[in-house]
Amino acid sequence: MPVRSWAVRVHEHGGPEKMVWEQVELPDPGPGQALVRQTAIGFNFIDIYHRTGLYPQSLPITLGTEGAGVIEAVGKGALGLKVGQRVAYGTGGPGAYAERRLIGVQHLVPLPKDIPDAIAAAAMLKGMTAEYLVRRTHKVKRGDTILVHAAAGGVGLILCQWARHLGATVIGTVSTDEKAMLAKKHGCKHVLVVPREDFAARVREITKGKGVPVVYDSVGKDTFDKSLDSLAPLGVLALFGQSSGTVPPISPGILAKGSTYLTRPTLFVYNAARENLLASSRALFAVIRSGAVKIRVNHTYPLKEAARAHEDVAARRTTGSVVLTP
Ligand SMILES: NC(=O)c1ccc[n+]([C@@H]2O[C@H](COP(=O)([O-])OP(=O)(O)OC[C@H]3O[C@@H](n4cnc5c(N)ncnc54)[C@H](OP(=O)(O)O)[C@@H]3O)[C@@H](O)[C@H]2O)c1
Repeated sequence: MPVRSWAVRVHEHGGPEKMVWEQVELPDPGPGQALVRQTAIGFNFIDIYHRTGLYPQSLPITLGTEGAGVIEAVGKGALGLKVGQRVAYGTGGPGAYAERRLIGVQHLVPLPKDIPDAIAAAAMLKGMTAEYLVRRTHKVKRGDTILVHAAAGGVGLILCQWARHLGATVIGTVSTDEKAMLAKKHGCKHVLVVPREDFAARVREITKGKGVPVVYDSVGKDTFDKSLDSLAPLGVLALFGQSSGTVPPISPGILAKGSTYLTRPTLFVYNAARENLLASSRALFAVIRSGAVKIRVNHTYPLKEAARAHEDVAARRTTGSVVLTP
């Protein structure tokens, strides 16, 4: 039987005012699909890109890429997932800003009893991103000194704690003193307040001229050049986002100075194979469970008011994870 669900949808790309609260009808789950009643939904910066059209979508769409809830129905080929089971996801594409959604079962991860729904919704996409960045894009190891931009953000707080847990000395960048304090409490040994400090020069000072083996850069346009300048020879620039805007085209020649590796990684590629998704989520649950990584849900909004969350994140007013409650 088709069900109706309230959802936050976009019919035209644009600002937060284009987000509308309306009812949609969901058909029965098809083969390989599940119907999930959502209990908590994670906000992610990519939701802004889907809304504005920076990552063009076929419209209309229900925004949102991360959530947790309970399976209400499954189609054929459910990979052993059952009605009534608690699940969470951070891949599978838009559709999360809704009371209920259909999603491919290959994206669903069974939720362990000791991981609350709000923590899962706050951490699946952001935490598995931190997982692949510190364990696969560049294997962070004891003794590494690394640089993380937007250290007090959603991904940032998790990434800094995880890297410290692996034995790294973490240098973080933030925009305010308040964010600096938070980043210091969550894994950063050094925090650079970027409007005041030249981060590439400070990284050279801290590393006694050597530079860092990896920069995790989600800020993009405003940081890219100095991120390159912060690297040690053969260093990795992991450009995993563009919160400040898209990096303009570059000539590969600019990488020659340090024989630098430049990568533009995405969670959707790293965790496309189900075994990678399950291993990644297991690793995330383990660091949460051990207390090595604390998930900070610093802002909660009613789902209906998701536009307010978009405004606050874009204005850099948030820290840690933002959760929407249906
Ligand atoms: N590739 C992947 O697999 C992947 C997965 C997840 C997320 N991401 C990317 O990672 C980034 C972080 O995502 P998130 O959801 O955790 O967001 P977030 O870091 O909580 O929010 C963005 C932060 O970026 C910083 N920033 C710098 N310049 C900015 C500007 N002009 N406008 C807005 N923010 C600016 C701000 O921190 P300060 O004020 O401290 O500078 C802001 O708090 C996003 O770019 C996202 O697309 C990529």
